[in-house]
Amino acid sequence: MLKDKKIVLGVTGGIAAYKAVELLRLYVKVGAEVFVVMTRSAQQFVTPLTFQTLSGNPVHTELFDLFQENEIGHISLADRADLFVVAPATANVVGKVASGIADDLLTTTIMATKAPVLFVPAMNVNMWENPLYRQNEEKLKGFGYRFMEPVSGALACGWEGKGKLPDPSAIFEETLALLAPHDLAGETLLVSAGPTREELDPVRYLSNYSSGKMGYAIARAARQRGARVILVTGPTCLQAPCGVEVHQVRGAGQMHQTILAEQGAASILIKAAAVADYRPAVKADDKIKKNAAETMTLVLEKNPDILAELGQLKGGRILVGFAAETSDLVDNARKKLERKNLDLIVANDVSLPDAGFDVDTNIVRLLFKDGRVEELPRMSKDEVANRLLDRIVELKGQKVEGRR
Ligand code: CTP
Repeated sequence: MLKDKKIVLGVTGGIAAYKAVELLRLYVKVGAEVFVVMTRSAQQFVTPLTFQTLSGNPVHTELFDLFQENEIGHISLADRADLFVVAPATANVVGKVASGIADDLLTTTIMATKAPVLFVPAMNVNMWENPLYRQNEEKLKGFGYRFMEPVSGALACGWEGKGKLPDPSAIFEETLALLAPHDLAGETLLVSAGPTREELDPVRYLSNYSSGKMGYAIARAARQRGARVILVTGPTCLQAPCGVEVHQVRGAGQMHQTILAEQGAASILIKAAAVADYRPAVKADDKIKKNAAETMTLVLEKNPDILAELGQLKGGRILVGFAAETSDLVDNARKKLERKNLDLIVANDVSLPDAGFDVDTNIVRLLFKDGRVEELPRMSKDEVANRLLDRIVELKGQKVEGRR
């Protein structure tokens, strides 16, 4: 989404200025063109040369030094921007913009741009809580400027509290959200992700190779497109996307309970989790010891089929399942779609390289209730997530049309 986009990155004078370097690298990595504007104080923390080297573009610092190619510098930067990100944003810069003061290159350019502006404040906790600052932030929000909340923790000034710049990857995600179509605004999307762990004794469990990446990609993309997102996740080592409500579960039983408790709020339900079909009939209280016998038999009992239950409860809502198969992909997936009363099923052949469990890409087919099949090429799980959400938006539109 950021490929070939022109981002103006404003860096102001706070200790977190060094993190803007990492943010710049994330933008450059996905093919965005970045123009850095630094305030005078920012240059006390990081040199313009660092940003210049990594962005491949001259760094802009002075208001009256920028008559390039017969253009007025700050206006040309302001016009060129698809997006404006100020990270870190000090209380000073927020206060100046809120008061309409444009006395340096950065504030002038912010005032002159028509592009969306995202402020990412970082400051001492008492400054952040100061009613003067709060009022400035609220005023700017009222005019459509976007803000990210600082993170709590140990601050460079010695205080503990809210004031840290969020992780560059979180700022990157928020940037995507700013550009994404907000076609899921007003929707609540519940998505399940990851494996389940079925406990055998205090030290062992049955599980599968699911990494959770597909479900997390859906949660992230849906949140970027404006949905409220509830993520019910089995154990994974992934970081939950910003702004998503997360419920951590272990076994299929707990996933079942959590999803049933949360599903009422959702208008779109997606089951991307790899749920164990069976669990050990008995969970031993103590570690199971080996004995003289050469074999051991485990008795398993069936877990509830959560998706099939949602199929009974769904009403007019959109319900999407996944089918991980190793043979007869379309046939097996179609049967699941019908048996579980789904609107759409994402079928993937997990035996293919670059598809299925624990990789960053997927090769899927989308099977619709009306018999259509859409074959997608190999793409990243983020892209698959967005393609799936495009189709869900279309299905929602058709349902609304159908009701008219
Ligand atoms: N699913 C579920 N609860 C289960 C098993 C599966 O909600 N107990 C959901 C999965 O999240 C997925 C879909 O059902 O969206 C299909 O899962 P899959 O394991 O492919 O199919 P099963 O119905 O379990 O059938 P089988 O294992 O025989 O292929």
